[in-house]
Amino acid sequence: MICKKFVVPAAVAVCAAAAALTAVPAAAADPIKIGLILPMTGPFSYMGRQVSAGVQLYLAEHGDTVAGRKIEILLKDDAGTPDTSRRLAQEMVVNDKVTVLAGFGLTPQAFATAPIATQGKTPMVLMQAATSSVTEKSPYIVRTSMTLPQVTVPVAEWAARNNIHKVVTLVSDYAPGIDAETAFKSRFTAKGGEVTASLRMPMITNDFSPYLQRVRDAKPDAVFVFVPAGDSAAVFMKQFAERGLDKAGVKLLGTGDIVDDDVLGNMGDVALGTITSHHYSAAHPSAANKKFVAAIEKANKGMRPSFMAVGGYDGMRVIMEGLKATNGAGGEALVNAMKGQKFESPRGPVLIDPQTRDIVQDVYIRKVERVNGKLFNVEFDVEKAVKDPGKAAK
Ligand code: PHB
Repeated sequence: MICKKFVVPAAVAVCAAAAALTAVPAAAADPIKIGLILPMTGPFSYMGRQVSAGVQLYLAEHGDTVAGRKIEILLKDDAGTPDTSRRLAQEMVVNDKVTVLAGFGLTPQAFATAPIATQGKTPMVLMQAATSSVTEKSPYIVRTSMTLPQVTVPVAEWAARNNIHKVVTLVSDYAPGIDAETAFKSRFTAKGGEVTASLRMPMITNDFSPYLQRVRDAKPDAVFVFVPAGDSAAVFMKQFAERGLDKAGVKLLGTGDIVDDDVLGNMGDVALGTITSHHYSAAHPSAANKKFVAAIEKANKGMRPSFMAVGGYDGMRVIMEGLKATNGAGGEALVNAMKGQKFESPRGPVLIDPQTRDIVQDVYIRKVERVNGKLFNVEFDVEKAVKDPGKAAK
């Protein structure tokens, strides 16, 4: 029966009786709203495309209803601008009464929004932003992506074990880049290596040549690089080859952000042999991942999922399981229900650390290889159950 707002009295009585019979309180039938804030336009729109594809796939596979209530995703584009993220979050907490804030492609967006989560007592799930300290900015933040120190330390250790003695670090000059630089330096030097120079580049640039020239002049055994994944990483890889650093014997090391799966397919041979550490590869050889890759490709015109799609997929999982446990309630109860979740992700086994609300996960060492004609990050070593090293030390 469709009960419209304006009906004749007899029909009202029928509708009222029907409503009483179903015995669902009006509030309980309201949708549960999730405010998903991502860059859908601008230079980081690739993040929005990937994370939202993961979110949508999780709902398509597992249903969009919890405790008899529909999940409604309010997807808002912040175009990568922190002030916009904060304003959108405020509007959605106050006007739309969202139960959860989620998404966040870049660290500055997450930093700007954290106070809104605290003031509104609204859980905020970081599906992508990866600076270690973000989770400390609000007790309502839970992360399903990674932290830069977590994915940097394994490649620093690998370098020290593999006859690499002198390294130059080269990172984007903002919080995740500085996290990567600090983590690489401290672990590599602790293992006996030497960082001969630490160079920082603007966060958004398409001209890496002055920095690459300085690396070449320093003649290190390797350069360790972090740039935000996406188009600028592809430009970086091209210019690295054009400057002839590989031919000059400078090995390229990095976090997986420089050879992210979404753009790797189009990078060409310049990427071959690049060694990185990261928590996800589309080539991860598990049944769960094969199913995930096929489903994302099918639903998104052949798009290969990157670690960002996994952050969205697992973030949605953590939210939905949390909502099941609280019977749809949000606030602190929902944060508590997210803590300690342990499950098999397409990336491998993961845990939401109950103390830090950050993700604990396996981090793989990978090498770019051609597999059936296409470039992939092929995992060949793993460090199990890595906690964010900054927090693990506390
Ligand atoms: C971030 O801003 O936190 C960020 C962005 C892109 C990445 C990793 C981290 O690839």
